[in-house]
This record gives sequence, structure tokens and C-alpha cells, in this order.
Amino acid sequence: MKLGCCYYPEHWPQGIWADDAKRMVEMGLSQVRIGEFAWSRIEPNPGQYEWDWLDRAIQTLGDAGMEIILGTPTATPPKWLVDSMPDMVAVDEQGRPRKFGSRRHYCFSHQRYREQCARIVEAMAQRYGENPAIVAWQTDNEYGCHDTIVSYSEAAKMGFRRWLADKYDHVDALNSAWGNVFWSMEYRSFDEVDPPNLTVTEPNPAHVLDYRRFASGEVVTFNKLQVDILRAHSPGRDMIHNYMGFFTEFDHHDVARDLDVASWDSYPLGFLEQFWFSDEEKLRYTRQGHPDIAAFHHDLYRGCCAGGRWSVMEQQPGPVNWARYNPAPLDGMVRLWTLEAMAHGAELVSYFRWRQAPFAQEQMHAGLLRPDSEVAPGGDEAALAAADIQQLGQIGETAKSVALLFSYEAAWLFEAQPQGQSFRYLELVFEMYSALRQLGLNVDMVSPDAALDGYKMIVVPSLPILSPSLVERIAKRNVPVLFGPRTGSKTADFAIPADLAPGTLQQLIPIKVSRVESLRPGMAEKGSDYDVTRWIETVETELSADEMVNDGRGIIFSSGPVRYLASWPPAPLIKRVFAAMAKEADIATLDLPRDLRVRQLGHVHFAFNYGSGDCDITDHLQGGELILGEALIKPAGVAAWTAA
Ligand code: GAL
Repeated sequence: MKLGCCYYPEHWPQGIWADDAKRMVEMGLSQVRIGEFAWSRIEPNPGQYEWDWLDRAIQTLGDAGMEIILGTPTATPPKWLVDSMPDMVAVDEQGRPRKFGSRRHYCFSHQRYREQCARIVEAMAQRYGENPAIVAWQTDNEYGCHDTIVSYSEAAKMGFRRWLADKYDHVDALNSAWGNVFWSMEYRSFDEVDPPNLTVTEPNPAHVLDYRRFASGEVVTFNKLQVDILRAHSPGRDMIHNYMGFFTEFDHHDVARDLDVASWDSYPLGFLEQFWFSDEEKLRYTRQGHPDIAAFHHDLYRGCCAGGRWSVMEQQPGPVNWARYNPAPLDGMVRLWTLEAMAHGAELVSYFRWRQAPFAQEQMHAGLLRPDSEVAPGGDEAALAAADIQQLGQIGETAKSVALLFSYEAAWLFEAQPQGQSFRYLELVFEMYSALRQLGLNVDMVSPDAALDGYKMIVVPSLPILSPSLVERIAKRNVPVLFGPRTGSKTADFAIPADLAPGTLQQLIPIKVSRVESLRPGMAEKGSDYDVTRWIETVETELSADEMVNDGRGIIFSSGPVRYLASWPPAPLIKRVFAAMAKEADIATLDLPRDLRVRQLGHVHFAFNYGSGDCDITDHLQGGELILGEALIKPAGVAAWTAA
């Protein structure tokens, strides 16, 4: 695995570039990402390109031995460009245009903005495509950051109408698919259909779901436009985009079909603070991040590109600036996060950013260097990690074990119709993932379209729209599989299936969900050693339940290797169920303490201590040979061993 950093030569005097590059190499870094926000310096006036500075930056970094990932600057169109076509900006749900003055001020559907993107990308690709220092391209930067995927602009409206015409052919088909007879919502032509915002009460969920599908497709074609140009001029270079954490607004599997490497931006402390975690977890892991946050995304994005290639393009190096509270990581965490990415098979961990900027929006965001160029704590840890990586050497690949199916469409569907405020798809998946990880299992998160060959156990947290092909692939695998609540509960058109939920899943397990209910916080159905919260279903079946709550309702049913969970997963129960499935599948499990996580890569086992006390792993070593760290792992410590 390589290490790298994000560098902004345009932020610094040219006189220090060479020294920066030299210091990067000394720190153990070998890749550097540049350029992704530099449009106003590359083209300060329409059609007037200023390549000199970028030529020199690339030359300087390349001469020092750094491999360069060059970003296309389309996340930050310059002021003159926006002024030349003010309708290129995205429009929010309230109908307000998003103004210039930060970044991502564009709408994916704006055709003339796409032409401008194609032009600047082509100009960069022609100039640097064959430059030996350039090893990869990053398209744009973080599609969707700052809530920018779903736009209600005029351009999006027109694009949506074309998309609908293409999908439904005749407007009667649309009316019937969406059920528009309800509330007299019928249309006479596609030209009458608007985006689903600013309606008096909730819009038709089928309309919303199609709009989300359309918006996601716009990202795919926007990205592909750049990739096609870059590939034509820059043969042999990897195409990369940097995805975000806990982000489901577009289908990352679809975008990844055009990429070589799926990278992501890992900010474990910011994510812990900003997302749904409890106050107890936020305090317990305030300087570490929840033990499953980084791993969750490593395992999710590894499942995106063919061949499983992935990397961390931006790694938190110290306090960030954008969360509600921004503590510093515990000493050792930057190294731990780096090695954990390695254990999950990353090709690169690149820190954001080389030097902290003393100006503008992110001046409070740490870098590997302080603004005065002294090394910051993150820089010291990057150097330590570089030495560890060298010591560990090249490690092989991991055998397939557990597949967890992740569906972006499911996330959109539950947002359109949560039927209970706390039914949140990402949380559901995360809780199941976390239970698997607490058992020490290696997990691959894959798309519902993935071939499931080789997996010994399959977890489907929820998949409301179930394709016949998936049911077939799972039946063929014939391994322990668990389907979570609301699986098979909708048709592709967002209606209740004629034979009720779980729809086509009834081919694998004879159950029918006759009623569902969401439970407000504080409500619970008692089970043996757990509470069912958030969601519970009533199931009609001849099968006897594997598990019941106190009112006699079954919540787990099984038929051969197929299990169905008819509720939000209670933590102790789901862990037991997964342990039983793993046993049936002949996969060894561990009962890990709360703050410890393990991962196996090739022949090497890694352990990571996310707690604030020491953790003794002597029992897990089972006579294996330690190759990194010690059996008593300090807080933020890492150990690695090879099996006996
Ligand atoms: C990322 C983004 C970077 C920088 C960073 C700060 O979301 O890609 O440009 O803003 O966050 O943490």
C-alpha cells in the first residue's frame, strides 16, 4: 500500500514547492493529488489558459519522485463561468438557486455546463495525459458534497421529462406505474411532469423514487463524460473518484462501472459527530471514531469497482473544521486508521492535506504540517505508518466469506416512504455490519447485482425491490442467508406486491407480512434479552418462529438456509443469529470486546484497539507469530500476526 497527500501548489509560493516535495518523500509518501479546485488559476479568463504554474508544479513533484493524481477542477467553476450562464447552478428543494462563493455550485443536468467541463477536461488531458508523472486522474471532487445531487432546476426538469419519456414510452404507462389516478394526479403528456418539490403535501413516492433514479443517473453520465475524454488522452492511467462517508444520494456502484479505483474520504471523528450515533458513543469514541465507521466504508467501496480496487483519497490527519465539535484524534489514531485501511486491502491512503491552509474556509482544518510548516502530529504518525507498511511488506488477498448486500435504491425508497421516522436504511445496514464485525468476520459489501459466487454466508439488511435474478442467485448459492425487514415489500414501480411482502421472496421462505408498524422512541416489544424497537411486522405462516417477542409474534423465521427478520434488528439477537449462520457456514467467529476489531488480509491477522484502555489479544493469537505490535495493545494501538 502507498501513502500520499492532497496538495495545493496554488496555495503556496513556488519557492517552497521543491522543499515540500522533498519532505513528502522523506515522510514516506509517494503519491500526491493536486489540481481539483484550481480552475480559476488554470483558466483565469475565458479561453485563456495559464499552464506555466501547473507545468512547474507537476515537474517539481515528479522530479522529487512523487506520482501524481491529477484532479479535474469541475467542482469549482470560476466566477466568470457562472456569470456567463447563471442558470447552471443547482436549485434546492425550496426552489432557491445555490450561489457562487464556496464550491459545487453547478447542476449535473445543465448541458452547457457539461460542455464547459468537457472543454477544460480535454484541455488538461491533452496537456498532461501522457506526462510520466501522472499516474491517475480524479474526476471532479466528492460528487454530492453539500447536498448537491438532487437539483430542482429548469435543466433538471427538462432532463427528467426526457428520462421519463425514455423509460415509459407513453405517459399512460407512467400514470399507471405511479398510480396517478390517486388524487387526480394524471398527466396527459411527459411535458406536464415537474420535479417532485414544493407540493402541498408529500409528493407521490413513486414520482420521488424516479426522480432520485434520474438524479443518480445524471451523476453517472456527468462522470462518464470526463472519464471518456481522459481515457482517450491518458492511456494506462487509473480513473478515480473520491466518494464520501455515509452518503447514498447517487448509486456508487453505477458510477464505479466507469472507474478503475473507487476511493473515499475518511474523516472518522467528523462522521461520528455528525451522524446518528448516541451521545454515549460520541463521548466514548470522540478521539477514535466509532470502531466500525472507517471499516464500513472500506468494505463498501471495495465492492464498487470491478476487481475490488479502492483507496482512501483523503484521510483525516488531525482535527477537521466542519463537524459540530472538532476534537483531535488520540495519539496513534492516524497511524491506526492508515493500517486499518491496509488491512482492508487499500492501494493508497492519502492524507488531507499536506499543509494546513492559513486562509479561507478550511483554515481550522489540520494538515500533516502546520501552517508554519512545522510537522503536525498527523505528519509524525504518517511517517510511523510508512515504516510499518514497509515492515509488513506485500500481503495477499482475502478469501471470500460474508457478503452483505448494499442497495442505493433501497436508501432512496425508504427516504421517500419511511413509514416511521427512525427507519433509516444506512443505520440498519450499519447495525448489521457492526454485529458481523463484532464477531470478527470479514465482510464484503456488494451490490444486489453482484455475482455471489464463493460467499459462504449472505446478509441482506433490507431490499424492498427484489429482482427475480437475485432470488435465483441466492437460491443457487444455497448458503445461510438472512433477509431483513421490508425485503420484497415493493414492486419496481413502488407499489405493494399483489401477494404482499416479502413478494418474490416467498419462493424461498413461505411467509406473508400481513401488517407492519413503526414504534416511536420509548416504545418496545420485549424479547428474551432484548427489546424490539423502531419497526415490527406481523407475519402469517405455517412455519414456527425461531424467535418470538412477548406478545407471541414471531420475529425470526427460517426455511432451510433462508432466514427472515421481521423487525429492526435488536443488537444481542442479531449477533446470535449471525453467529449461528456462521457456524452453519463453517466460518469461525470470535467474541470481541466492544472496542477491539480484527481483520484478516491474506495470511495476516490485524487487531485494532479503539478503546481508551489496553486490550489483551493473547487468546486470539493461538500460537501465531506477532509481526507488528504486542499482544497487549495500547489504546489506538495495532497488532498484526500470522497464524500458527
Ligand atoms: C472533503 C473535501 C476536501 C476538504 C475536506 C475537509 O469533503 O473533499 O476538499 O473539504 O473534506 O475535511
